[in-house]
Amino acid sequence: MKKELLLVLDFGAHNNQQVAKIARASNVYCEVKPYNTCTETIREMNPKALIFIGDEESTETDADKKAAGLKKMGIPVLEFGNKKDPDQVKSFIFDRCCFSGNWTTQSFIDDMVEQIRTQVGDKKVLCALSGGVDSSVSAALVHRAVGDQLTCVFVNHGLMRKGEPEQVAEIFGKQFNMKLISVDAVDRFLDKLAGVDDPEKKRKIIGEEFIRVFEEESRRLGKMDYLVQGTIYPDIIESVSNKGIVKSHHNVGGLPEDIDFELLEPLKWLFKDEVRQVGEALGIPHEQVWRQPFPGPGLGVRVVGAITREKLEYVRESDAILREEIRNAGLEKSIWQYFTVCPGCKSVGVKDGKRTYEQAIALRAILSSDAMTADVAELPYPLLTKIATRIVAEVDGVNRVMYDVTPKPPSTIEWE
Ligand code: XMP
Repeated sequence: MKKELLLVLDFGAHNNQQVAKIARASNVYCEVKPYNTCTETIREMNPKALIFIGDEESTETDADKKAAGLKKMGIPVLEFGNKKDPDQVKSFIFDRCCFSGNWTTQSFIDDMVEQIRTQVGDKKVLCALSGGVDSSVSAALVHRAVGDQLTCVFVNHGLMRKGEPEQVAEIFGKQFNMKLISVDAVDRFLDKLAGVDDPEKKRKIIGEEFIRVFEEESRRLGKMDYLVQGTIYPDIIESVSNKGIVKSHHNVGGLPEDIDFELLEPLKWLFKDEVRQVGEALGIPHEQVWRQPFPGPGLGVRVVGAITREKLEYVRESDAILREEIRNAGLEKSIWQYFTVCPGCKSVGVKDGKRTYEQAIALRAILSSDAMTADVAELPYPLLTKIATRIVAEVDGVNRVMYDVTPKPPSTIEWE
């Protein structure tokens, strides 16, 4: 099927992804490029129509000259300024440009499977599977294309939530029947992290150790030709934006620089919601595909200060209770992220008539759309009470529960 392209040129818009999302939601494939992309590149992309998007009133600048030049290409152009009217986009793409609207989740999967098969041929592919949405969907897509030529490596660093390592083995090892190597590196990570209380040092250790373990495994597997990366479209738009905004991604799965792989990035044209739709269409369970964001360094940034096995257990168990209660209350879809933190402070309490001196646990539940800013979710008070009661009753070593009511800014979402 021929893919019709709508190209959005970003002339400094506040939200340059909005139009692309509207077009794609109408089954029209759309990409975003900075306005100063070379005209020859734009011609080669062969767009059926162009949309110029910018926040500011135009003045005689390079941008205007560029816009004037592009208008001479002879394809329809919509200039989209401050007054955003989505209806306007739809009427442009369908009434004026007659896009057929044939870009769907299934057509994406079919095209990408074909593309991966052609690119990979009979070569071998390696994937670091974390269980996160992007790596899971990438792995499932590549597996659909090349089957057993793909080997996934799952590194259990001991900083996962309750049940996660088992879930990865169940879904990808059993249901998908992928070649999956699970590496139990818990002792190794926790030994390296012992006594380290500086948040940045902890992150660095976790990131580096992950790379070391992954390198060792890949060496054991022999020569692999391709490495799967879960890059998604916002990563690309943000890194080439003409406003120079580069979001720093501090993922555990950073690439070993000295390993000789070609990259396979099957999701690099998709927004997060589209990644999720592809994941569901490929048969990844709903809960896995719609799970909330989880930081690469895992619970390592939710135990404040030096990590111990005990503190990890307090966070893991209390987090499981919080998740269960939020799910039971039917709130899981309306909250961006919710989790527990072990701040590492002990306080005095009483249990069964006896004095206790135990750890406190903080609950965090926030609303956000992009994680750049966040508001506190106003959880119903009876729900908070229920969660607190369960945590102090069920998690040995915890005698106090707090609710973090700070938005971002001034706080960040995670505590470290
Ligand atoms: P902060 O704490 O900076 O978090 O407000 C913003 C979002 O990013 C997630 N986060 C991370 N994700 N590696 C990641 O992959 C990390 O090191 C990391 N630190 C924070 C956080 O959960 C939130 O969604």
